[in-house]
Amino acid sequence: MKIRVLGSAAGGGFPQWNCNCHNCAGVRDGTVRARPRTQSSIAVTSGPVENYEAIDHAAPWALINASPDVLFQLRDSPALQPAQQIRDTGIAGIVLIDGQIDHTTGLYMLREATRPWQLWCTESVYADLTRRNPILDVLSHYCGIDHRPLPLGEEFRIEALPALRWRALPVASKPPPYSPNRAAPLAGDNIGLVMTDQRTGSKAFYAPGLAAIDEPAWQAMRSADCVLVDGTFWSDDEMIHLGLSSQRARDIGHLAQSGEGGMLEWLERLPASTRKILIHVNNTNPILDEDSPQRAELTRRGIEVAWDGMEIEP
Ligand code: MLT
Ligand code: MN
Ligand code: ZN
Repeated sequence: MKIRVLGSAAGGGFPQWNCNCHNCAGVRDGTVRARPRTQSSIAVTSGPVENYEAIDHAAPWALINASPDVLFQLRDSPALQPAQQIRDTGIAGIVLIDGQIDHTTGLYMLREATRPWQLWCTESVYADLTRRNPILDVLSHYCGIDHRPLPLGEEFRIEALPALRWRALPVASKPPPYSPNRAAPLAGDNIGLVMTDQRTGSKAFYAPGLAAIDEPAWQAMRSADCVLVDGTFWSDDEMIHLGLSSQRARDIGHLAQSGEGGMLEWLERLPASTRKILIHVNNTNPILDEDSPQRAELTRRGIEVAWDGMEIEP
């Protein structure tokens, strides 16, 4: 299995268009050493498949989340454009881990597809994307959607990627602000994905939104060779401290890295052999600054920060 990080930032990207925090201003004027990053998405492949849709040796990919920046991400990812036909794409299916704006708006940008998108999402995400924010209904006037219900806890498959097995785990986080479930999330509003390569046995766990780590999420993290987990905020009061919001990280569905019970403590308890990667990083997070003490602490602990274009083979 190969994972390509298409977008490693949280909603807003980095730098965020209207933000003049230390990181955003600094990356703009070159005084902070950091990579710009686009909004949250990864692509996953298990490699070339013979006779896939009559295209030999093209590697089909699953797109996990459709970022508003997807067009730039695809432009920067030639492997996702096999160029075998006048209209072509390497994306064989799309999986949504929630209904957040940063994970779904890119569906609009993919409306020129020549057939309906095979799209996996949970029942509650489907409800949000057909009622309060009816992207999927709007798309029926363009390429259309071939909706595949995403079963909670059970295994599912994406036909074009026969070597991979997928499992969706309900996780503690937050549905989008427009969702009727925002104040009282339902199981399935947010999921983590366990991806297993049947040929090699390797496993990856992807969960860019984790407000807390419950027992099933912890089991998934412990059994994975590589975890790509919520890297949104360094501290729980990061946005409050900067005067940017009145809400704590945990109030909007994200477990901060520092502090008691924070992500760093959890990652510390994983086996030394587990590859530990923070993803979905908010532009305010000091770990984006490659010269920050917080980034040095991650390096000391063997924790990586995802970047756009990063490729991982768990
Ligand atoms: C979040 O995960 O909280 C977001 O990045 C929200 C957003 O898309 O603005
Ligand atoms: Mn997000
Ligand atoms: Zn900023």
